[in-house]
Amino acid sequence: MIQEIEKRVLLLREAIRNHEHLYYVKNDPQISDFEYDKLLEELLDLEKKHPELITSDSPTQRVSSDISKSFPEIKHSAPMLSLSNSYNQNELLEFDRRIKENLPPDESIEYICELKIDGASISIIFENGRYSKAVTRGDGISGEDVTQNIKTIKSLPLKVTNALSQSAELLNFEVRGEVFLDLVTFKKINELRLLNDEKLFANPRNSAAGTIKLLDPKTVASRNLQVFLYYLFTDDIFIASQNENLKLLDELGFKVNPNYKLCNNINEVIQYCNEWEIKRDSLSYEIDGVVIKVNSRKQQDLLGTIAKSPRWAIAYKFKAKQEETILENITWQVGRTGAVTPVAELKPILLAGSTISRATLHNYDEILRKDIRINDTVVIEKGGDVIPKVVSVVKENRNPDSIITLPPVRCPECGSVLVKSSEEVALYCENYLCPAQVKGRIIHFASRGAMNIDGLGEALISLFVDEGYLNSIDDIYLLITHKDELIKIDRLGEKSISNLLISIENSKSRPFEKVLYGIGIRYVGLGAAQKLAEHFGSIDKLMNADSEAISSIYEIGASISSSVIKFFSQQSNIELISKLKQAGLVFEKETIQGEKKLSGKNFIITGTLSSMSRDKAKDIIIANGGKVLSAISKNLDFVIVGENAGSKYDKAVKLGLNIINEESFLKLTGTE
Ligand code: IVH
Repeated sequence: MIQEIEKRVLLLREAIRNHEHLYYVKNDPQISDFEYDKLLEELLDLEKKHPELITSDSPTQRVSSDISKSFPEIKHSAPMLSLSNSYNQNELLEFDRRIKENLPPDESIEYICELKIDGASISIIFENGRYSKAVTRGDGISGEDVTQNIKTIKSLPLKVTNALSQSAELLNFEVRGEVFLDLVTFKKINELRLLNDEKLFANPRNSAAGTIKLLDPKTVASRNLQVFLYYLFTDDIFIASQNENLKLLDELGFKVNPNYKLCNNINEVIQYCNEWEIKRDSLSYEIDGVVIKVNSRKQQDLLGTIAKSPRWAIAYKFKAKQEETILENITWQVGRTGAVTPVAELKPILLAGSTISRATLHNYDEILRKDIRINDTVVIEKGGDVIPKVVSVVKENRNPDSIITLPPVRCPECGSVLVKSSEEVALYCENYLCPAQVKGRIIHFASRGAMNIDGLGEALISLFVDEGYLNSIDDIYLLITHKDELIKIDRLGEKSISNLLISIENSKSRPFEKVLYGIGIRYVGLGAAQKLAEHFGSIDKLMNADSEAISSIYEIGASISSSVIKFFSQQSNIELISKLKQAGLVFEKETIQGEKKLSGKNFIITGTLSSMSRDKAKDIIIANGGKVLSAISKNLDFVIVGENAGSKYDKAVKLGLNIINEESFLKLTGTE
């Protein structure tokens, strides 16, 4: 049982880290905030019940990071916290109950409600009354120095003249707030990106976060960033309430969102939230909820902070925006792995600022479960993010001419008969040369996370496949031999082809793990590719590994292992690797110079350690250059045994492996 829970915890951590990276670093979220919160909540819950599973690197132990390493890092004077979320009236009542429970009885409580601006948080430091530094939230502890970019915000005073009525002069302080782009600017930026075949920003928040981190302040200035400030920190004066804090900001000349409201009880708060949920579309910028704060500073201090969020504040998140429209057709899309998935073709409708004409239906089981038929009126949803989905059917509006869809028998792209395996819901086209799969594989290979070939977008790949220039990913490296013909293709021209060929050349220096990810072995995501690359060090070693050696790697499961084995058992894939090698791609992990204490040593940990968790011990091993395996094998150099060690210990004894206790392990690493 505990093993099952541990597995789930690891899985949740991996998924959360991945989504945090997509959200904060790539500005390209793949799930809604709500889905993300649910994952985090589940992890928090499991860790609460099993504190022994908590590790220092768990996503619950820090505010998620947006650090991208392009700007110098600066430590925040006080951590930039995040807020816990609420989604309905009951959760707000529950918040109110908790507040009352944690304050002396009969104390009157005022709440202040502010709009939750959907942008990126920023900390701005003023020294001697002058603008000095601006830092992103980063991981909450330190962020990136974006001083030059934030300086372009015209509404931000670069010098404050002290209009304080108090006697103290306020010269050194920090203000915090939200940087954002208004909807018109957001739309313009996306239109431009569409023209340039660049990936669109999913929402204004991502576009603001992306803009703050542009390397050229001139481009930033042209984007017209804006900022609302909501908090001032200073050691010089005591600010008795959030209401006064906002007033002070305003007096000092900072832009404060004017829609805040002081509420005398939670019912007034609920009313404010409901009102703004309806009125949100009347604003020229996006809000994704309301932030509710206990007004009195004294009460805030009494309530304090738990984990990474203050107890005295909560975010109320608006529901995802929904609209009704007609489902005109259901088409079937073939992905790079051959999975054939249904797509809802919709009567175009404006939803959350963009026109939607397609939505995902996931799989045929979902169509059946929701009883979705062609010509139905359907409810579609977009949770402030990515791909819209069909939530339900408005059954009262069902037309007599609604048509039940049957799953396709043949691939819509190449006509081969589709296969459905017993353990999966998806249908598969097993024709490796199906043009849709070929395009999908090349799109994946060229994508930013893999080989990052700038200029080789979906449209161009599709064109090159249709024209016969690309049949497989290795053909990308032969495009140079067709340069003269490519230039002649309509719309392309010499300049764009030259740039493309340069990007292709540059991709040859992408590190091994990116190449491994790019070749598209099923189930091998970036995380798994990294682990495989690190463990085996080269493609040759990976190709020669047996499934036991692969699945013995920490956090690499049986499905990845058998998929890798299957991939390299196919002659066509061996040939693909050999062609890519010839093209000059990197198939070895760069070796880090300087021997570490545990370099080349394989470990396994069994039983409970007394001075640290198993994950902590694992971190120490990896930091010292060693590897942690998950199953007992002859490849192990050390078996670390703690209390209540189980069958692994017995097996280790049988195999005559080198068994050590916690103390010896600490000596080995020099951490004792
Ligand atoms: S207060 C400890 N007020 O929402 C208090 N946050 O997790 C922390 N946000 O990224 C924030 N509008 O940047 C606060 N009026 C507002 C806000 C606001 C937007 C953002 C903030 C943070 C997130 C909360």
